[in-house]
Amino acid sequence: MVLMITLGIIGCGAIGSDVAKAADEMKEIAEIYAYDGVEERGRKLAEELGKVKFQPVDVFLPEVDVVFEAASQQAVYEYAERIVEAEKDLIVMSIGAFFDDEFRERLVEKARVHNCKIYLPSGAVAGLDGIKAASIGGLDTVTLVTTKSPEAFGKHFDRRTILFDGSAREAVQLFPRNVNVASCLSMAGIGLDRTKVKVVADPVIRFNSHKILAHGKFGRLRAEVENLPNPKNPSTSYLASLSAIALLKKIVNPLQIGI
Ligand SMILES: NC(=O)c1ccc[n+]([C@@H]2O[C@H](COP(=O)([O-])OP(=O)(O)OC[C@H]3O[C@@H](n4cnc5c(N)ncnc54)[C@H](O)[C@@H]3O)[C@@H](O)[C@H]2O)c1
Repeated sequence: MVLMITLGIIGCGAIGSDVAKAADEMKEIAEIYAYDGVEERGRKLAEELGKVKFQPVDVFLPEVDVVFEAASQQAVYEYAERIVEAEKDLIVMSIGAFFDDEFRERLVEKARVHNCKIYLPSGAVAGLDGIKAASIGGLDTVTLVTTKSPEAFGKHFDRRTILFDGSAREAVQLFPRNVNVASCLSMAGIGLDRTKVKVVADPVIRFNSHKILAHGKFGRLRAEVENLPNPKNPSTSYLASLSAIALLKKIVNPLQIGI
């Protein structure tokens, strides 16, 4: 029998609606329930897409197999524990919530006890597969270099300027918009305290870029993405939506490519 799943979506903004549209066309997804704190966003999606029904999370939770969160860190704190306690798999986009060590450890332990999975899509970066594999043999350094135009930081520089150079833990306090990428990379590799982050303002670049540099027993890794913004939300990279859709396809596909 072909694997069919029912999907719940929390957050019907840029990423949530991209994922809902893709899921609506996936034959392995039987039904989709969507919820948004702004009710008309969820209702609009339900009107546009055949498989989507608008329902509050507590109502749809017993019906679904997998819940996809693309709302906010607040939503992760609000729903994640209830989702895993209900033995449903969970995909989290607001990965910054995992920056809270105590919350992350409690949630992961609950998922273990309730035998379900928590998936963190690679989002706006490339190279996490290599970092995960390399970490098995031992990583010496992992650095994330985020480069944006000076205007993105509300500044004006006529040359490349390093705004921050320190640990991922410090970086996310000063640059909270880096929190998803820095948290995910740190968890994949050597943690928030040993992962280094450089934040750079460069008047030459046209697109926001995230570059991962790593050294270890495996050799050397260098992976860079120049991100185009999501047309629905310019502060979100389009690749973030695509990584979530790719993860959903991986969940329902018998052929698993990459780690
Ligand atoms: N992992 C990554 O690489 C990555 C990349 C981009 C964005 N993100 C994160 O993904 C999330 C979604 O991004 P987006 O661009 O789609 O945002 P968006 O603002 O376009 O959409 C978010 C939607 O969620 C709803 N929402 C917020 N809090 C809610 C709550 N507590 N309950 C119900 N609905 C709620 C909002 O009303 C909004 O419609 C954000 O937290 C963002 O930081 C992660």
